[in-house]
Amino acid sequence: KVKIATIGGGSSYTPELMEGFIKRYDELPIKEIWLVDVAEGKEKQDIVGKMAQRMWDASPYDVKIHTTLDRQLALKDADFVTTQFRVGQLDARVKDERIPFSYGLLGQETNGAGGMFKAFRTIPIILEVVEDMKVLCPDAWLINFANPSGMVTEAIIKYGKWDKVIGLCNVPVMAKMGESNTLGIPKEDLIYKFAGVNHFHWHKVADKNGKDITLDLIDKLYEENSGLPKNIFDVAFYKEQLVQMKMIPCGYHRYYYRAEEMLKHGITEYENEGTRAQQVKKIEHDLFELYKDPNLNYKPKQLEERGGAYYSDAACETIASIYANKNTEIVVSTRNDGAIPDLPAECVVEVTAYVGAQGARNVAFGELPTAEKGWLQVMKAMELLTIEAAVTGDYATALQAFTINPLIQSGETAKQVMNELFIAHEAHLPQF
Ligand code: NAD
Ligand code: G6P
Ligand code: MN
Repeated sequence: KVKIATIGGGSSYTPELMEGFIKRYDELPIKEIWLVDVAEGKEKQDIVGKMAQRMWDASPYDVKIHTTLDRQLALKDADFVTTQFRVGQLDARVKDERIPFSYGLLGQETNGAGGMFKAFRTIPIILEVVEDMKVLCPDAWLINFANPSGMVTEAIIKYGKWDKVIGLCNVPVMAKMGESNTLGIPKEDLIYKFAGVNHFHWHKVADKNGKDITLDLIDKLYEENSGLPKNIFDVAFYKEQLVQMKMIPCGYHRYYYRAEEMLKHGITEYENEGTRAQQVKKIEHDLFELYKDPNLNYKPKQLEERGGAYYSDAACETIASIYANKNTEIVVSTRNDGAIPDLPAECVVEVTAYVGAQGARNVAFGELPTAEKGWLQVMKAMELLTIEAAVTGDYATALQAFTINPLIQSGETAKQVMNELFIAHEAHLPQF
């Protein structure tokens, strides 16, 4: 029977994971789940750990939830390790968002300056987890959800030298769900192909006869947009642009294709309601009040207010697919290996893949249109520089990453923002 270890177990998403595992118990017979956290997260971990146990107790299955601050104890002989941790908790995210906004730049969890600093904080910790895994559970699969999910996955492979990893995101899951509703066609009857990097991918869709219906879907999405996570404000894409590329961009592409409007909205929201992280603090507080209720033994609807809703559809399905060699089609962050010829084979991309006992086997996407190819190569360069800076702690490499990031106008302001972020996050950036 299966042992799961979840790093960042105090997350409010833990019930989401439990629901996904309970649903799949027949194919994935779990014995124990270890929720690991750090001292700062202990209170949340205790509440959500009890809530998770109640969910299993209400199911027909006998699964034990363990909560611990001892990561190595949790990793010992684990079959699957999932990650959903946030170094520095939400206060660190507040800084990632507030500091850039205060200089007139976008402040966002995974994009722009904040996203790069989240990578700087997260990558050293994930590499420690990988080193532990080499000793304590060398055959385990690492299923990464910690953001920036694509960069973290690339760091695991490139610097951690650990290949049994799959990076995940709920954005493709939500897009598929929403678009199936918009089209009035069941999900199973749609054929999808995704390509790009995490939070920067495009997709095409065909009907069950193989006929490409992307242009139809683009039309329909202008009548009723769907599948956008709650954390992204909906500025419409320019339709001519989507028709020209014949692909559907992911929700996050708004920050690039409509940068001016998204920044304007972000600054207004920051001035009136505070950053998304501050809003998330309130949502999280309400969720944990619910989780404290000794009668609550199922995932509450309110979790959908979080941007990561439905993440278990990706995480638990990936684990079940590896365990039972199901070869399910899932959008994952994994080694490119030629799926996108515009990027090096060894880098990490987010693509449609079939997931089975050997991990992810990618579906080739082929070359991208001229503009999107250019964007993607710039974004990958930004990611590679960010990861390298996170590992080496080299200031000049970080400056290069800032300079190439399309959401940051290069120059004195950018350098000041970066310097202020370095000071604000000092406690979590020992490598610099
Ligand atoms: P959160 O703030 O609730 O953090 C989760 C837990 O991680 C906290 O309890 C915290 O104490 C703990 N933690 C911090 N450092 C740790 C460490 N070194 N070891 C173990 N635990 C540690 O975060 P959240 O809002 O639940 O999000 C969790 C993570 O998942 C974040 O990185 C977030 O960006 C990511 N996320 C990813 C997606 C996706 O699509 N891939 C979607 C939503 C959230
Ligand atoms: C999204 C993503 C995540 C992202 C999160 C933010 O949709 O896929 O990667 O970071 O939701 O959600 P939040 O509720 O924390 O703002
Ligand atoms: Mn995501």
